[in-house]
Amino acid sequence: MEISWNARYDTGIQTIDEQHQELFRIVDQLRRQVQDGADRGGIEALLKDLVACSERHFAAEETLMGQFGYPDLTQHVSEHASMLTSLHELLNKFQESQQVLALMVPTFMEGWLKHHISDGDFGFVTFLKARDLA
Ligand SMILES: [Fe+2]
Ligand SMILES: [Fe+2]
Repeated sequence: MEISWNARYDTGIQTIDEQHQELFRIVDQLRRQVQDGADRGGIEALLKDLVACSERHFAAEETLMGQFGYPDLTQHVSEHASMLTSLHELLNKFQESQQVLALMVPTFMEGWLKHHISDGDFGFVTFLKARDLA
C-alpha cells in the first residue's frame, strides 16, 4: 500500500511541509523498490537519499526552533538524533548485505514519520503560530 503524505500532516509552514512530502516520497519509492525486488544498488541509493534528506530536514527544523526559542528544542533534537542513528544503522546493516533489512525500512519509516510529524513537529508549529511567527 502506498505510503503517502496527506493533509493530516499539513503544518502550514511551507518549507517543513515540502520536506515532509519529500521524505514520504522517498519512503514510498523504497517500499515500491523493495516490493518489486529492485537491485541492491537502487535500494542503497534510496536509503542514502533518505539519510541525507532527513539530515537536511532535521537541521532546518532545529534552526527554526533555535531562532524562535522553542522550549522543547533539546527533546526534539534528541528525537532527531536517535532517528538518524537508527537510519545510519539500517544503512550500515544493509551494506553488510543483510538485504532483508530493507524490508523493514518502509514500515519503520512510515511509523516514525507519522510520529515525528504528529507528536513532535506539531508541538513546535503550534508554538510558532501562537506567537504569530508562522
Ligand atoms: Fe519534521
Ligand atoms: Fe522534527
